[in-house]
Amino acid sequence: MVDLNTGIPWETVTLTSLGTNRHIFQDILTEARELAFKQQVGKTVMYTAVGSEWRLFGFPRRRRPLSSVVLDGGISEKIIQDVKDFIGNPKWYTDRGIPYRRGYLLYGPPGCGKSSFITALAGQLEYSICLMSLSDRSLTDDRLNYLLSVAPQQSIILLEDVDAAFVSRDLAKENPTVYQGMGRLTFSGLLNALDGVASTEARLVFMTTNHLDRLDPALIRPGRVDCKQFIGYCSHWQLCQMFQRFYPEQPAALAEQFADRALAVSDSISAAQVQGHFLLFKLEPLRAIENIQEISQ
Ligand SMILES: Nc1ncnc2c1ncn2[C@@H]1O[C@H](COP(=O)(O)OP(=O)(O)OP(=O)(O)O)[C@@H](O)[C@H]1O
Ligand SMILES: [Mg+2]
Repeated sequence: MVDLNTGIPWETVTLTSLGTNRHIFQDILTEARELAFKQQVGKTVMYTAVGSEWRLFGFPRRRRPLSSVVLDGGISEKIIQDVKDFIGNPKWYTDRGIPYRRGYLLYGPPGCGKSSFITALAGQLEYSICLMSLSDRSLTDDRLNYLLSVAPQQSIILLEDVDAAFVSRDLAKENPTVYQGMGRLTFSGLLNALDGVASTEARLVFMTTNHLDRLDPALIRPGRVDCKQFIGYCSHWQLCQMFQRFYPEQPAALAEQFADRALAVSDSISAAQVQGHFLLFKLEPLRAIENIQEISQ
């Protein structure tokens, strides 16, 4: 048989044996399943949508520790707690007739840790990630709806750059050519698909954007987005933490000095910039501080 959407053949393996012991097949399958799972232990599995189904995307990656993503003032702990409360309380939702899903929106400038945090969170929860690109031209309302309803169990549905797929309806009126044509995903199609994401299983939807102001209010109203979180440029505390993580044998005072001087250069430094700067001075923390003005170049 061939997958009608992609033309890729399904694989079929036929096992036959002499004798009457059917358990031999069960044993083989169990063993194969265990071997397959072993490859994923301690890893984060990514799926991407191909046609009407979710396919493995690349090899499972080593889990990213949450501690490696330094977010300001307890943001990380707050979101993790929220997610855990949600996952741990299905009954609360069913008792009240509330669909068992929760939407999160992380917004803020590029390179500050939105995607990294979601990946690390999935690792921590032992969830996989279903990555969905809304700007995919072949995506239609029906296909999105279907995909969201068949997403693998224990997975985070991740919609990156939600602003790129749609402009807010006001902007759309001003500039109709940018807005959706026939046959593609429509804005109301996305809203309906998000509303339809409900199952007996906890459904976590994460969205990211660099431009909160470009999103239509209907997309981010409670029920679709229950938790909005700004992830901004590095604070003094974050700069210290990152310095100490990168140069663990250095005294705390040096980290303070780095943070002071970095903020004097610019108050809009992303974590990605800091990481890039440290990589230039892998073994030379003092030079990383001396050459701090290079960070924003
Ligand atoms: N808060 C952080 N702590 C540690 N490393 C970070 C942090 N934020 C970003 N980085 C590093 O910077 C790089 C880019 O980060 P990431 O992709 O998470 O940014 P983003 O916020 O998703 O950006 P964009 O809006 O462009 O998608 C990664 O290599 C990541 O390791
Ligand atoms: Mg990102």
